[in-house]
Amino acid sequence: MIYLDYHATTPCDPQVVEAMLPYFTEEFANPSSSTHKAGQKVANAVETAREIVAELIGAQPSEILFTAGATESNNLSILGLTNGIQNGRRRIITTPIEHKAILEPYKQLGKIGYEVATLPISKDGLVNLEIAHELINENTLLVSVQTANNEIGTIQSISELCKIAHDCGAFFHTDAAQAVGKIPINVQELDVDFLSISAHKLYGPKGVGALYLKGGPLSTPLRPLFYGGGQEHSIRPGTYNVPAIVGFGEACKLCNKLMEKETIRITALRNKLENSLISTFSDISINGYVQHRLPGNSNLTFSGIDSEALIANVPELALSAGSACNSGALEPSYVLQAIGLSREKAYQTLRIGIGRFTTESDIEVASKLIIAAVVRLKSLL
Ligand SMILES: Cc1ncc(COP(=O)(O)O)c(C=O)c1O
Repeated sequence: MIYLDYHATTPCDPQVVEAMLPYFTEEFANPSSSTHKAGQKVANAVETAREIVAELIGAQPSEILFTAGATESNNLSILGLTNGIQNGRRRIITTPIEHKAILEPYKQLGKIGYEVATLPISKDGLVNLEIAHELINENTLLVSVQTANNEIGTIQSISELCKIAHDCGAFFHTDAAQAVGKIPINVQELDVDFLSISAHKLYGPKGVGALYLKGGPLSTPLRPLFYGGGQEHSIRPGTYNVPAIVGFGEACKLCNKLMEKETIRITALRNKLENSLISTFSDISINGYVQHRLPGNSNLTFSGIDSEALIANVPELALSAGSACNSGALEPSYVLQAIGLSREKAYQTLRIGIGRFTTESDIEVASKLIIAAVVRLKSLL
């Protein structure tokens, strides 16, 4: 099996697994057990992981809150803010191409009287800054725009959007689950108030992530979504998932070290695959903002070819016809429809995700297999 679905999840780097293992066995103590050395030692490991996560995004360690992943970080930013701030502002803004972990909490807030506005998206998947100026106003409480899209890879102009929000006195959140560890992110340069991270998208374990809180939890406007033992300054209580947190830290350390070289290598592999497919079939189109997208992302529409049929014809490859979090749903991707693809074209679209463990030979084999499958399917038309 050649794995080309790195947006859905990434394998744990072996170095990450190795770093995690002692925390299941010898170092099993509860980091909140400060009465003994075993607990203090594990607490130190959690704090070391916090420092490494912070370093990857240019934050202070005190500004990193551990969560169960980007879904929780997104919900905590949105619902925690609306629970915590009652300043009369009732307008909340996002884009139509966010992950469901943004769109669903927004929908819930719409049901209880918040005014939800959506920033229009160009055919490249970019938010139009001029229209953002018009829609973000003095009634706006929160603007949430993803850093990079999980289907088409488009990277947004986050610092510009954040400035527009701040000029109106609104908070700014970005879901950076697909971006952190893949492209350089510096929260100070972006100036965002909240930023969500997921470990399993950057070669760490599943079920752990972080929320960056500008200024840290002591001064945060967020209210917790649940209550308990007081961990994470009571903003996110619950016993620490120590092995996962340690693995997350190790994964961030590796990303920091490898990102520059990895970007060059993965971009070259992505371009090689696209060039090989496009030079064979002139009717393939690339979706997203081609000049400014995630290095490992390739979202391709194969004119006239049903992507489910194409995937079924290449069982040796792990590919996606839409976002992983929507797979199983029969509806064509809402992201592709939001950038102007017809339902028919959305059904003809393949998402390819290339990552750390993809080799040159994987790309050569994948390219040959996809070409053979497309030729076969075209012959049946
Ligand atoms: C952009 C984006 N946000 C949020 C999530 C959810 O992250 P997690 O799996 O950590 O809850 C994903 C995962 O698919 C994603 O791609």
